[in-house]
Amino acid sequence: MSTSDHGDLKNVHGKPDPRVILVTGATGNVGRHVVTQLQRTGAVVRAQARDPASAGLPGGVDVVRGDLAAPGTLDAGLNGVEAVFLLWPALTADLAPAVLDAISKHARRLVFLSSLGIRDDLERQPDPINALHAAIERGIEQSGLEWTFLRPGGFATSTLWWAPQIRADGVVRWAYGACARAAIHERDLAAVAVRVLTGDGHGAAKYLLTGPRTLTQVEQVQIIGEVIGRPLRFEEISPEALRSQLLTRLPPAVVDGALTYWARLVTEPELVSPTVAEITGAPARPFRAWVSDHASDFLRTSGAVLPR
Ligand SMILES: NC(=O)c1ccc[n+]([C@@H]2O[C@H](COP(=O)([O-])OP(=O)(O)OC[C@H]3O[C@@H](n4cnc5c(N)ncnc54)[C@H](OP(=O)(O)O)[C@@H]3O)[C@@H](O)[C@H]2O)c1
Repeated sequence: MSTSDHGDLKNVHGKPDPRVILVTGATGNVGRHVVTQLQRTGAVVRAQARDPASAGLPGGVDVVRGDLAAPGTLDAGLNGVEAVFLLWPALTADLAPAVLDAISKHARRLVFLSSLGIRDDLERQPDPINALHAAIERGIEQSGLEWTFLRPGGFATSTLWWAPQIRADGVVRWAYGACARAAIHERDLAAVAVRVLTGDGHGAAKYLLTGPRTLTQVEQVQIIGEVIGRPLRFEEISPEALRSQLLTRLPPAVVDGALTYWARLVTEPELVSPTVAEITGAPARPFRAWVSDHASDFLRTSGAVLPR
């Protein structure tokens, strides 16, 4: 890891390096892979973290302190940056105008991690998570930046919610076992982000991104069991019981939005998009491959791992 106060980054000709890319959310599921995959392209990678000292990012990455909840902290990390990978960790878009203002003073290009469920045909999104992403997308469209929206469906990492139950007794007690999702591997999302951040021809594109096929939640649990070599069982509980569980960690509007969406996916499975393969040239990784990459999370006997 290298941290710096970096003034203007200059290349050997004394000009600003055109390929400095700032990755927000760099310590998270997706951002961590964006950082490592970007490094392989030869881009100068700057990674934002609220606590650079604990970021745990690879050597050669310039880790800068920045907090999207305090837009005044962003300027230093944005200095000399050509493109930004932005995710939005907050539950309101209140600070988005100030953040976009800061970004557009420095960068030319912005790639935003949005969500699949946004309905472009509606003025108002029916659920709070898509409403949040749509509000930020609107701000970006008005910012003057060249933008690309990555709109992923459910992350495969969301199944880490089940890890404590799997480790405990191998029974996943959850609602909507027939909810069918095309869960995406975070490496594939990162691969698309890297192509877009470093290539041309992606301006004003809205990319729908999913895994290669839908699986019900019951099938996902079965695959996790096959990969870790333990028989697992999905035990259907009521939506109300799941709601109570989730309310201990998430606000009611978010929980209710998620439950409504999962209920819909029982009868209308999530769409499967070919875009990962179209952009990266490699097929989207199957859920089984994701489980292999994360098997230890389901096998540990302590130290609960939960998606943030
Ligand atoms: N989960 C899904 O199914 C799904 C589906 C569609 C879209 N999404 C989008 O994906 C995003 C999550 O991506 P992820 O799973 O890669 O993230 P994650 O693993 O949950 O990590 C969150 C990242 O956000 C950073 N962060 C949190 N608060 C911050 C702040 N105030 N200022 C700056 N950085 C902050 C954290 O960095 P530090 O703590 O190091 O600062 C961390 O790197 C969601 O916000 C959502 O917009 C998720």
